[in-house]
Parts: sequence; structure tokens; C-alpha cells
Amino acid sequence: MIRDVLRMGDPRLWQKSLPVTNFKDPALKELLADMRDTMAHLDGAGLAAPQIGVLLRVVIFGVKANPRYPGVEDVPDTVLINPELKALSDEIEEGWEGCLSVPGMRGLVPRFHKLHYKGRDEKGLPFERTVEGFHARVVQHECDHLDGVLYPMRIRDFTRFGFNEELFPNSDLPPED
Ligand code: NI
Repeated sequence: MIRDVLRMGDPRLWQKSLPVTNFKDPALKELLADMRDTMAHLDGAGLAAPQIGVLLRVVIFGVKANPRYPGVEDVPDTVLINPELKALSDEIEEGWEGCLSVPGMRGLVPRFHKLHYKGRDEKGLPFERTVEGFHARVVQHECDHLDGVLYPMRIRDFTRFGFNEELFPNSDLPPED
């Protein structure tokens, strides 16, 4: 079922979400189905459970590379539960981000370039990956939601934050998650 996405200002987006403990709970299956439906409906690159008002440490993401977005590489469709992230170097990269909870806007956000992450899939099985670039960016963006952080809180140069039509008047927008 397509759910409403909370928008910046809703106090639930500032909360710290709780780990999933019961992977057999039918409510988890339902949550993931709703998240997939909602993300597909809005054509998002990712979605975190708190964005639909469920304060659990669950994120989904996945992107198909598109020639219109240079620097946006394929990211496999992933369910990541109870994630743990570790930066693999101090290297920071600035990149454009949007968020379904901050509609109509984009901002230039610093993120770690290279990242190791681990967590559970929807069956509760552990998995881990080492990623970089756009994949690393999406994971950091989604997992920030689980700690009540939205991307505008990480922007350093506010001249690089604004409305889509002003920032990208003649070009395609970077994806939103
Ligand atoms: Ni977001």
C-alpha cells in the first residue's frame, strides 16, 4: 500500500528509530511491501521506515544507472535492517541529494566516499558490503533517517541548497531518496 511520506518539520523525522528484533513478525513483511510501493510510486532511490512514520531501523534502496545522471551508478535493490556503517577512509565527497521528505529541493551534501556496511536482510540473514561513490552516498542518506538526521542538516554551503527549478533550470534532477 502506498503510504504518505512525512515531510521535514514532522517531529517523527527527528526521532531515533529502534532495531528490529522479530524478523518473523508479519508486520515487518507488510512494512517492507508498503515501503516498496511508496518508493516506486514516488520514483525514489531509497526510503527509510521513519519516513512513513514507522520508527524501526529499516531502509530500502536501489537505483538503475541513467545516462542523464552522471556519477549515479547502479545500486542493487536492497533491504537493509539494523545497519552498521563504517567509513573506510577520511575521504569526503560532495554530491547532490534530494529527499522525499524535503520535496522540491536539492542540496550539495558531504559524505564519506568509501564505506563498509552490514546488517540483516528481510529474512534476518546477515550480509555486508564494501561500497563507494553513489552507493555509499545512498546508504549514508538512508541510515541518517534512522537517527533523525535529514540531509539539510549536513549541508556546509547553503548557496548549494535550494529549489529544483532554481538550481537545475535546464537540466535533469539528481535522484531523490
Ligand atoms: Ni531521504
